[in-house]
Amino acid sequence: MEGDGYQCNKHETLEDLLEFYKKAASNYDKDVKEHRGYIGHETSVEVFVRTLKQYNFSGDEMILDVGAGTGLVGEELSKRNFTNIDALDASEELLGEAKKKGIYKKHFVDVLGPEKHLNFQDNYYDAAIAVGVFTLNHVKAEGAMDEMARVVRPSGFVCFSIREDVLFEEKYGYQEKMNQLCKQQVWKLVSQTKEQYHSKNDFLKCFLYIYQVLETLESDADF
Ligand SMILES: C[S@@+](CC[C@H](N)C(=O)[O-])C[C@H]1O[C@@H](n2cnc3c(N)ncnc32)[C@H](O)[C@@H]1O
Repeated sequence: MEGDGYQCNKHETLEDLLEFYKKAASNYDKDVKEHRGYIGHETSVEVFVRTLKQYNFSGDEMILDVGAGTGLVGEELSKRNFTNIDALDASEELLGEAKKKGIYKKHFVDVLGPEKHLNFQDNYYDAAIAVGVFTLNHVKAEGAMDEMARVVRPSGFVCFSIREDVLFEEKYGYQEKMNQLCKQQVWKLVSQTKEQYHSKNDFLKCFLYIYQVLETLESDADF
């Protein structure tokens, strides 16, 4: 994979990616907003909050921002009066930038991935959102989507963006995992919309998915 011209999408390993973010942390907001015209955090949160309100969420619910980075998603949630938010990210330095903004209640440095359970009980959050995380050379579906569904309570919501150029790339496993979790009745699709992701240069779009987590089937508990 050649990448898409932007440094953060060029790293093949998590170690390299985190090394890049370590150096880029203090300039991240300026870089992505001004140079790339990144607006994925705004468009995604707009749709997410509209949906939560349709399901009578008041703003007090506990939300996990997965791959929170410097807190751009958290800022958008706060503007819309959702303020009970925790942040999780693999990059200590990006989370350090988020901390300075005082948006999140708690900050967790942790890695989303196939080998690992996140350090939260099942059903702990009312909703989880990941924007810009299921993207070129970042996080694959296996383990990550499962974990987002696990930590959200039944009837709660899992929301994430997937860049349009990687949605069908098999190596990321996005389509397969989303379908598998539907078949296993872990979650059901609430909406799939196409949103603007970059407002200049490549004018890239992303797909935004919102799933509702389902009750665990009684019979599953026996196995
Ligand atoms: C493009 S940034 C998006 C950040 C933020 N959500 C936004 O919209 O600005 C991708 C984020 O995913 C985080 N990340 C990448 N791989 C990760 C992993 N395996 N587990 C947790 N976070 C990861 C990065 O550290 C980075 O903060």
